[in-house]
Amino acid sequence: MTTHSHSTGHQAPAGAAHAPHPHESAHLHVAGEATYVDDMPPLAGTLHAALGLSERAHAEITALDLSAVRASPGVVAVLTAADIPGENNCGPIVHDDPILAAEHVQYCGQPIFAVLAESHDAARRAARRASVDYADLPAVLTPEAAKRQQAYVLPPMHLKRGDAPRALAGAPRRLAGEFRVGGQEHFYLEGQVAYVAPREDDTLQVWCSTQHPTEMQRVVCHALNLRSHRVVVETRRMGGGFGGKESQSALFACVAAVAAHRLRRPVKLRLDRDDDFLISGKRHGFHYAYDVGFDDDGRVRALKLEMTSRAGFSADLSAPVATRAVCHVDNAYYLSDVDIQALSGKTNTQSNTAFRGFGGPQGAIVTEYLLDTIARELGQDPLAVRKRNFYGRGERDLTPYGQTVEDNVLPELVDELEASSGYWRRREAVRAFNADSPVLKKGLALTPVKFGISFNVAHYNQAGALVHVYTDGSVLVNHGGTEMGQGLNTKVAQVVAHELGIGLHQVRATATDTSKVANTSATAASTGADLNGKAAEDAARRIRTRLAAFAAARFGGSPEAVEFADDTVRVHGNAIAFAELASQAYQARVQLWSDGFYATPKLHWDRLSMTGRPFYYFAYGAAVSEVVVDTLTGEWKLLQADLLHDAGDSINPAIDIGQVEGAFLQGMGWLTLEELWWNPDGRLMTHAPSTYKIPATNDCPPVLHTRLFDNRNREPTILRSKAVGEPPLLLAFSVFFAIRDAVASLADHRVAPPLVAPATPEAIMRAVTATRSPRGVPGEGRTAPAK
Ligand code: MTE
Ligand code: MOS
Repeated sequence: MTTHSHSTGHQAPAGAAHAPHPHESAHLHVAGEATYVDDMPPLAGTLHAALGLSERAHAEITALDLSAVRASPGVVAVLTAADIPGENNCGPIVHDDPILAAEHVQYCGQPIFAVLAESHDAARRAARRASVDYADLPAVLTPEAAKRQQAYVLPPMHLKRGDAPRALAGAPRRLAGEFRVGGQEHFYLEGQVAYVAPREDDTLQVWCSTQHPTEMQRVVCHALNLRSHRVVVETRRMGGGFGGKESQSALFACVAAVAAHRLRRPVKLRLDRDDDFLISGKRHGFHYAYDVGFDDDGRVRALKLEMTSRAGFSADLSAPVATRAVCHVDNAYYLSDVDIQALSGKTNTQSNTAFRGFGGPQGAIVTEYLLDTIARELGQDPLAVRKRNFYGRGERDLTPYGQTVEDNVLPELVDELEASSGYWRRREAVRAFNADSPVLKKGLALTPVKFGISFNVAHYNQAGALVHVYTDGSVLVNHGGTEMGQGLNTKVAQVVAHELGIGLHQVRATATDTSKVANTSATAASTGADLNGKAAEDAARRIRTRLAAFAAARFGGSPEAVEFADDTVRVHGNAIAFAELASQAYQARVQLWSDGFYATPKLHWDRLSMTGRPFYYFAYGAAVSEVVVDTLTGEWKLLQADLLHDAGDSINPAIDIGQVEGAFLQGMGWLTLEELWWNPDGRLMTHAPSTYKIPATNDCPPVLHTRLFDNRNREPTILRSKAVGEPPLLLAFSVFFAIRDAVASLADHRVAPPLVAPATPEAIMRAVTATRSPRGVPGEGRTAPAK
């Protein structure tokens, strides 16, 4: 039987805000009528592009013969790096990302040339006909190998607080070892796509599936030596982005733009799924080397940690990923003395990028792994050890990077979840089950989340919006954020409707467009609604203020006393329809549209010392997962999950619950099912759904309880809500640690299984074997991965 409960603590829609309205495009999504870039009716003369990819992980190109490509049916042109008039670079921060590789290829799958043909199929067929001679160079494929060779895409990052070496030396107990987590393919349902139309006077119109239209405008301009006012980028929606379309949409936008500009024809570049996997960067896998000191109660005294990511061949967003990883090593816990290094390993693989959580999950999971290990070492329940390490209030509340945790609700939140999930009762039931079951073993885990909200780089934390009130009372809102399925447009429309006191159906959000709101930030770091919601509120408030002044002047009373609610404006004893007031205001020449702006307050960050206040506030959550593991095959199943998540005073509890459940399952996929496999020659073998498995309906637990924790944001964020896009991904830690708990039961929970992520059946079997016959003294060294 399946029981799904979604209780939100909120009643039926009362008004526009704080109500579970459906996604603004839900009716289009379900009917297949929502328009994505590839659904746009093709413009006359459209050419289709395909990319020719490197067959080698690291090599010099000694000869490139494209004559067979050019001669292929339907081919109109073939472009190489030499055909890019401006800078051959699409890197977002460091300029180390060629659009098309010239002489030097740095990963298997790197684009070398682009074919333009009359059809998508003709372009793809032609792209395979190139003849390329390579002189191979040594390739680095893993973060461990990159570390051995000191090959990094960025200088190391280092955060120190207290005196870790001394505290380690003085700690009553100590464990050192290694841990590892894999990467993750974004697997957005809509692949990367850009469609570019040349327009009069050297201008370009770009339609692109991107989280960052302004960045696409910038890179296209650089590739073509154009000024920003000649290029317009529009994004109506993405079929998912998950971080993979923040910087990585750039290469495709650039290729389509260069081709369209040169050939004077519209050009569409839509990637085939396999090419998308082979070309685009993914979540960074991490390797960790740790040395942790603790006391007999399991309180951490000191942590020395070296994290090395698989950055890929170029920097891309590896710096912000590493920064966020460093700032989330603490997760929910007070760590007094730390020495944390983050290295971004240069590997001859796809250049890894943002992925939901942006390094935060990779930072937090290692500390969860250590607390879990410490609990086994002490023979205690991991939940008890976790709680003992929680941040305090008024004491033990300073993060290693110097921000005070002012809004900690984890003690209450975890208490509530512990009770509602029946954690301790189920702990006994699991123990009883395992006592009678030699092969099938159950496991249970509760893990907390604390996630910092804001971009680490302060200046990204700004947004603009434009609100138009028409004379019939209908409203259009445009803002700098992008819609990728997360419901941002719905929330922003709710904010505007709430501010103007009108029904949500009166408000529409339109496509993100660099010619409407300029200089926008990526829709990322979960800040979309926080930033753009505030900017839209600002714009709507300006219009409301003007309308109130007009109404008071016409009907009497003070502007402050004018009320906007239920599509009606109440002024000095009169009730007038909002549309009627808008029409009258227009006649009186009152401006009925406005811009709005927002910049997040209180933020500062020192990049070198890695200290400051990088986050405006924290979002919290916790999850309990129960699994059953077959210890002969490594197969497992999630039996039940109880999620409790803090979305502040949720603007839209239905959308937020969707975000919590989606993130949880996506996180579970990362930590359990999804395995990226590169052959020893550097070829990615998992490049399609046939070989790369994301969670599907059958992987959802039969019992899933999801609730939002009632917790008005103490900071004056948009309607006192909290960002919800990424933080719940970390709730999936509970699944990984429930699997580890089930394996630990094989040795009466006295051995910490050396389980690495993804916990595939193979990884689980390695951990089972190591747990059954542990080598050496308990604890020390045994927590190192088996492989
Ligand atoms: N939800 C859906 N359906 N599709 C997505 O691509 N991306 C996630 C999250 N939720 C994503 C999603 C990521 S990585 C981020 S940063 C946020 O949404 C971005 O949107 P927000 O800031 O408006 O929450
Ligand atoms: Mo999300 S990884 O910040 O796009």
